[in-house]
Amino acid sequence: MSTSPWVKGPYTPVEKEVEAFDLEVEGSIPPELNGMLARIGPNPIGEVPPDHNLFFGDGMMHALTLKDGRAQTYRNRWVRTEPVAHKLGEEAPVQAIDGTDVANTHIFPFAGSLYAMTETCIPYRVSEELETLGREDFSGFIDSGFTAHPHVDPLSGDLHAIGYDINSEASVTHYVLGEDGSPKRKARITLNGPGLIHDFAATENFIIIFDLPLLYDEEAAIQGSQAAYKWTHGYEARVGLRRLDAEDASVRWFEGPNSFVFHAMNAWEERDESGSVTRIHCDVCRFEKMFDEVRSGPGEGTVPQLYRWTMNLVTGEMSEQLIDPRVQDFPRIDERYWGRENRFSVTTELFSRTGQSGIIAQYGNGASQEWGFGQGVDTSEAIFVPHDDKAGEGEGYLLATACNYRNGAAKAAIFDAQDVKNGPLAEIMLPQRVPATFHGSWLPAL
Ligand SMILES: [Fe+2]
Repeated sequence: MSTSPWVKGPYTPVEKEVEAFDLEVEGSIPPELNGMLARIGPNPIGEVPPDHNLFFGDGMMHALTLKDGRAQTYRNRWVRTEPVAHKLGEEAPVQAIDGTDVANTHIFPFAGSLYAMTETCIPYRVSEELETLGREDFSGFIDSGFTAHPHVDPLSGDLHAIGYDINSEASVTHYVLGEDGSPKRKARITLNGPGLIHDFAATENFIIIFDLPLLYDEEAAIQGSQAAYKWTHGYEARVGLRRLDAEDASVRWFEGPNSFVFHAMNAWEERDESGSVTRIHCDVCRFEKMFDEVRSGPGEGTVPQLYRWTMNLVTGEMSEQLIDPRVQDFPRIDERYWGRENRFSVTTELFSRTGQSGIIAQYGNGASQEWGFGQGVDTSEAIFVPHDDKAGEGEGYLLATACNYRNGAAKAAIFDAQDVKNGPLAEIMLPQRVPATFHGSWLPAL
C-alpha cells in the first residue's frame, strides 16, 4: 500500500464507475434547478509512488442531474487519457503526449461542448454522459499546455486562457477564443522563469498574470519525480497587467508580494473623476509559499487566506491587504460579475480552526455567513447558480458536495446563497464516496 498521503482520507480513490437513478433526498430540491452539476478530481488507478503528486492523479468526473425537483441521475467516469485507458485495459481514444497527459482539474462547458482540462495538456472533449470523445485543440490553435482555468468574459462572450508549456522556454500564452469556439488571437509572453501559473484574473480592460516563485524543476522531472515544481528563493514575484485586446506581447509588471496563489477570486478597476483607471483590485487566496520542503501537494503549514492585491497605475506600486484570515480557497463568484466589482463570493473553508470544512459566503462590507458539514467531512468548491438571468448578484443557489471520509457517506448539498448559515435546502445522497475534487460547473438544461 502506498505511503502517499494523497491516496488516503478524503483523497482515497474509488475503484468503480457507477450509475444511479432517483436518488434519496433530504429536504426539497428547488424545481427551477434543472441541469447538471459536474465535478472532476484526481482518482489514481492502482498503486502510486511514495512521492505521488496530488496533481498527477488520473482524472475522474462526477455528474449529478437535477430535474423538476428530483435528483435524476449520478454517474462517475474516468477521463480516458491514454494512460487511463491502458490501465483499464481499453483502447485509448487518443495517443499520449509527452507524459503530461492528465485531465483532472476542471470540467467546463464552452461553445456547446464540455471539456475536461488540466493546464499541462490539451483539453479533452467529453459528453454529458461523461464519455471521453477526444482531444480538442480548436483547429490547431492550442499547440501546448492550455489551462485548467479558462474564463469567459460575460460581456463579449470571449474565452480567455493563460497557458504555459513546461516543455518550452519560460513563457505563457494568452489565448482568446470567440464564444462559438473560433480562434481569435494569441500571444506568447516571455517570463523570467518557467512558472506554474494555475489561474489568472481580469477586469473590463486587463488580464492579470501571476509570475510567482513556483518554478519548474527540470532536473527533478528528468529523474522521473512527480514533484517537478519547487519554491525558488530569490525569484522576483511579479504581477502583470495586459490589455484584453492586446495583439502584441506587452505587459506592465508590478513588483508583487513574495507569495503564491493558485486561484484568483475576481478583479475590477477603480477610476478617477475623468474616467481613467487609477487602480486595479484583485482578490486572491494567497499562500506564503508553495512546494518548498513538501513538494507532493499543498502542505508545509502554509494555508490560503483571502487577500486583496491592489496595483496603483499612477505610482506603479502594488500593495496587499488581508481581507479574511479564515483558511479558504476555491473561490467562486456570480460569474456574471467576472471582471467587475463584486459583492457576493463563496469559498471553501479548509480543515483549520474548527477541524471541519464547509463553505463561506461573503456579501460585501465584511458581511459573511458560513456552514460546516461536521467532523471528518471534506467539502468541495461551491458553485453559484442564479435564479434566472434577471436575478440580482448572488440571488440563487450554491451547490457543493460533502464527503465523510470516515464512513464514506457522500452527498450533494444545495443552499440558498443568501441564507447559508441555516444549512442546505436539500441534501442528495450519492451512491458512492466522492474523493476530494478540484473544480466543476453547472450546466443548465436546455
Ligand atoms: Fe484550480
